Amino acid sequence: MEYYLNVKILHMFCAYVSVTLFISRLLLDSLGKVGWRHSPARYLPHINDSVLLTLALTLLVIGPWQPLAHSWLGTKILLLMGYILAGSKAFKLALPVKRRLVWAVLALLQLAGILYLAINKPLLFS
Ligand code: HEM
Repeated sequence: MEYYLNVKILHMFCAYVSVTLFISRLLLDSLGKVGWRHSPARYLPHINDSVLLTLALTLLVIGPWQPLAHSWLGTKILLLMGYILAGSKAFKLALPVKRRLVWAVLALLQLAGILYLAINKPLLFS
């Protein structure tokens, strides 16, 4: 428990790096600069997201939170799954641009939901 605050700060840091990398890649695609797929921008987000999720699991192990008891957290995990799915589709060059745009909007909405739930921790079902 003594490391809890450090792990939380690192988790938050990786979360904001993840958001920045995700939005940057969407912006590059929207400008027609799809070449980031041949640069470190292809794998850096995966490394950061792996650290983010490892820290998230560490928070669950050493902290007081339980996804089934704390509805904001359970909902956040469900949104995360939707975000991963929508995010991966948004970057699929094989899909038509309009469809990728829809996936991108869905991913951003779910990302906003994840951040809202993380920051406000509302009581959703009681
Ligand atoms: C399996 C996935 C995840 C789990 C289990 C998880 C777990 C947690 C927990 C337990 C906290 C509460 C820490 C506390 O207030 O003491 C937290 C905070 C936070 N999480 Fe996550 N998280 C996950 C994924 C994410 C993702 C994908 C993001 C954003 C991209 C994110 C962003 C944040 C932020 C910004 C906070 C700090 C909120 C604040 O108190 O200001 N988390 N997370």
